Amino acid sequence: MKSATEVIATDLDLLSHQLRAEFDSLSGRSVLIAGGAGFLGYYLVQGALHWNRTHATQPPILVTVLDNFIRGVPGWLMALEQDPNLRLLKHDITQTLPAALGDVEYLIHAASIASPTYYRKFPIETMDANVNGLRFLLEYSLAQKQKGKPVEGVLYYSSSEIYGDPTRDSIPTPESYRGYVSCTGPRACYDESKRYGETLCVNFARQYGLPIKVARPFNNYGPGLKITDGRVIPDFARNILGGEDIVMFSDGSARRTFCYVADAVAGYYKILVKGGSGEAYNIGVETPEISMAELADRVRNSVTIRK
Ligand SMILES: NC(=O)c1ccc[n+]([C@@H]2O[C@H](COP(=O)([O-])OP(=O)(O)OC[C@H]3O[C@@H](n4cnc5c(N)ncnc54)[C@H](O)[C@@H]3O)[C@@H](O)[C@H]2O)c1
Repeated sequence: MKSATEVIATDLDLLSHQLRAEFDSLSGRSVLIAGGAGFLGYYLVQGALHWNRTHATQPPILVTVLDNFIRGVPGWLMALEQDPNLRLLKHDITQTLPAALGDVEYLIHAASIASPTYYRKFPIETMDANVNGLRFLLEYSLAQKQKGKPVEGVLYYSSSEIYGDPTRDSIPTPESYRGYVSCTGPRACYDESKRYGETLCVNFARQYGLPIKVARPFNNYGPGLKITDGRVIPDFARNILGGEDIVMFSDGSARRTFCYVADAVAGYYKILVKGGSGEAYNIGVETPEISMAELADRVRNSVTIRK
């Protein structure tokens, strides 16, 4: 079995290959990744820096990670701190953007509370990051256009959760599905703020002619997902590693698809560079759809193998 380091090295090579055209477009540009210290940031950041290292004759992609580092700067990001093409800015996205940001051509908004465990605990902070944080980035993009330094792409991370609980005949769910969502339930702080975030994006794109695109990720998994994250796969893994029974908050029959993070990140960069302005894109896999009970078995088997 490959070590984690080998898996990540293979993934990064594959990303450079799959994203030849997209990374060529980002070459010599400044890319802001808000929330870049998180799970998706792991491959978003390392993917671009790896491309720089393997394409040394081309102008590098300049990456700025803006994050509140609420859980500290993760080890993988610390290890990259000396990279001349990486800048770390500690900042809360719900506040006015720091002047030190300067001019950037591409913006990715992945700064949010993404784990159900945490967004239920911090619903207001969740809404603020998804809506007010987004608004600062959109206003920045408009101001850049007005000062003659137009941004070339903005990517907003929405979520498959904007569909709520689709009816059986709407699974797999097309982008045209309008959603079946509660505006007051326990998940509403997340689902509804992502929905409003999308509305903001579409209207800034239309009214001001800005290149704003939206990704709707379906559950991603893979390297970079913290064991304390509070999402289902790390929760199951933590139970097993702690020698406990897996704790399930349902009868285990709910079914979901899971998309490997490196595949998803290829999709996210494609949307950022090539996506249509004001358009939203599902990123996920259609099969296999597995129940939480089956997922528990799979996690148990893979954790056992690695012991
Ligand atoms: N990972 C998935 O499967 C998935 C699925 C659907 C949607 N999304 C969306 O994708 C985006 C990234 O998700 P992720 O899985 O990487 O989440 P994550 O929790 O691993 O990372 C989010 C990052 O944002 C930072 N952050 C949170 N609030 C902030 C604030 N106010 N100011 C600055 N930084 C802040 C956190 O410190 C963290 O580093 C989120 O918008 C999430 O809602 C992810």
